[in-house]
Amino acid sequence: MSERRILVTSALPYANGHIHLGHLVEYLQTDIWVRFQKLRGRRCIYICADDTHGTAIMIRARQEEIREEELIAEMREAHVKDFGGFDIEFDNYGSTHSPENRQACHEIWKAVREAGLVREKKVTQLYDLTAGTFLADRFVKGTCPKCKSPDQYGDNCEKCGAHYDPAELIDPVSTLSGGTPEIRTADHLFIEIEKLHGFLEEWTQRGGALQTEVSNYLAGHFLQEPLRDWDVSRPAPYFGFEIPDSPGNYWYVWFDAPIGYIASTHEWCIKHGEKLDDWWKNEKLTEVHHFIGKDITYFHTLFWPAMLKTAGFNLPEKVHIHGFLTVNGEKMSKSKGTFIRASTYLDHLDPSYLRYYYASKLGSALDDIDLNFDDFIGKIDSDLVGKVVNLASRTARFLETSGLSAAYPDDGGLFAQASEEGEAIAEAYNSCDYSKAMRIIMAAADRANKYVDEQKPWAVAKEAANSAEKQKLLQDVCSVCLNLFRQLAVYLAPVLPKLARQTGELLDDPIIAWEQSQSPLTAKPVRKFEHLMQRVDPKRVAAMIAASTETAYGEKPSETAEDAVPATIPFDTDAPLLAEPLAEQIAFDDFAKVDLRVARVVAADDVEGAKKLLKLTLSLGGNHRRTVFAGIKEAYDPQDLVGRLVVCAANLAPRKMKFGVSEGMIVASGPGGSEVYLLAPDPGARPGQRVH
Ligand code: 2FM
Ligand code: ZN
Repeated sequence: MSERRILVTSALPYANGHIHLGHLVEYLQTDIWVRFQKLRGRRCIYICADDTHGTAIMIRARQEEIREEELIAEMREAHVKDFGGFDIEFDNYGSTHSPENRQACHEIWKAVREAGLVREKKVTQLYDLTAGTFLADRFVKGTCPKCKSPDQYGDNCEKCGAHYDPAELIDPVSTLSGGTPEIRTADHLFIEIEKLHGFLEEWTQRGGALQTEVSNYLAGHFLQEPLRDWDVSRPAPYFGFEIPDSPGNYWYVWFDAPIGYIASTHEWCIKHGEKLDDWWKNEKLTEVHHFIGKDITYFHTLFWPAMLKTAGFNLPEKVHIHGFLTVNGEKMSKSKGTFIRASTYLDHLDPSYLRYYYASKLGSALDDIDLNFDDFIGKIDSDLVGKVVNLASRTARFLETSGLSAAYPDDGGLFAQASEEGEAIAEAYNSCDYSKAMRIIMAAADRANKYVDEQKPWAVAKEAANSAEKQKLLQDVCSVCLNLFRQLAVYLAPVLPKLARQTGELLDDPIIAWEQSQSPLTAKPVRKFEHLMQRVDPKRVAAMIAASTETAYGEKPSETAEDAVPATIPFDTDAPLLAEPLAEQIAFDDFAKVDLRVARVVAADDVEGAKKLLKLTLSLGGNHRRTVFAGIKEAYDPQDLVGRLVVCAANLAPRKMKFGVSEGMIVASGPGGSEVYLLAPDPGARPGQRVH
């Protein structure tokens, strides 16, 4: 039998939000894995699609006064552009709002019905009369029925941790309209997943399909008890597919989303004259690999295998689960400019940097990874530019006339040693332990650099003009270096496809197979050397953060289908006003005396010995600088502030403090400590402008 093919998927991104650096952990992890498999000669396809259905998309389309189809078409274009910008290469990028997906949903639903797994139950939900829709739990707020804390979501209380039914909330308010919702009951369809308990127990625990920590987690958390029925229908209005045997009801977005994997494969099959059943209904022929984040484990390791099993589709060979991204050690934050969109990153930095940085951090476990910008700059400069690219940039020029030596010179065993390490590198890639692969590759790069430092081709070049012997030596030394460089470029090709392309062009020998790392090139012309990669410019990093901080204002927070706060005016309590009542009335002239100005933070430093203070240097434009000591240290990292706009009280008399003179104040809200929120002008404002 021919070798099994591989079908790989990443989670389908929601069509109501842009791709950001958090999403990219997964798409880059998967793209690297797929590129590795292809480089090793495996037949492998990478399938993805937009996840287009659900309440959040319906609401957003209403707010923008466009049809859902228009909204998802716009977002698809943006997603495809972002992925392309990062060299993420899908074999097919589909949509869950497609005829193929409708067809696959019908097929799976029929099987689930015939297996006797569907039952109808009444569900009581809050209904927003103004918006004309039932409210998902996250779209309603009110007072917790247990501890009476105000401003809590419909399903659980952030203060006391209680879980409850939205109907139990005291004084519920719809976050869509601000109105009071009413309680209504509707019939929903449920899948009795418990009937597959035995199968799921066996499949999750058999080993191989899941990381051990995931198998253990499922065994300890969900599989010890009966599995809860899964509510898979939503009454109209809902943007999705109507359930054929239940008119007026729609499949819940999470029912049709994973089916989108099959539908997108179907689109690919139509384009390539392939049979869908070969890819999804023949485990002997095809192994399916899903890559997902840990937040959607339940769907992919319990519901989804249950659906596949019932309808006779291939079960996943493996579900590869990764952790989340933190930036500078914290959750991504819009106010700190660390909620960075893929497109904003691409406006400022080379995508290869992020591909390598993530690879150097990703292991095969579920640990979160941290993007620390100092570490990022250091790693790219030292590893990629300093160790890898440098090998070529210091030597390729010397081979432009002579080409590579006719026979591979004695390199003291360097090429052979790195060749032998090829299988260990491949094994690390295959098991998603990219950080290990990068470590082995960088150790080989260190050895190669030691060779260059010892051989000093630039010094040999000086003598080569008058000596044939030195000329030959120069050619040999540089042939070794360029071959060691190319060997690294092959090993790094899954991570750095652009560098692999450039290397292929330099030596007129495209990198297309892993085996190219095993034998050096000889007697080949070397093309004119073009710059391969630059050091990271810290100013570009600061500008990216500043741009992300600015786009964050007015940005809609809704990033997930059902679970996000929709992009409408939220319900705000009066707790802050009660905590700090309004001050006494003043005359307009008194107010006008305060000269507030837009300013840009050009430097932010810790103040030695001060627990709460940061020393900020503000620019009011041109050479107008102000030093301001601000009590914001517990809320902001100095490096996150540089580049962003703030508002400064600019005509305050200078104040002598213990640490220096403060020449103004910056405007912020919040009670203090870590809860301080700087006010920022919208994009377009310029330093020096007066705030009226
Ligand atoms: O969590 C999410 O972003 C979902 N859109 C993932 C769906 S994955 C698959 F099931 F389609
Ligand atoms: Zn509570």
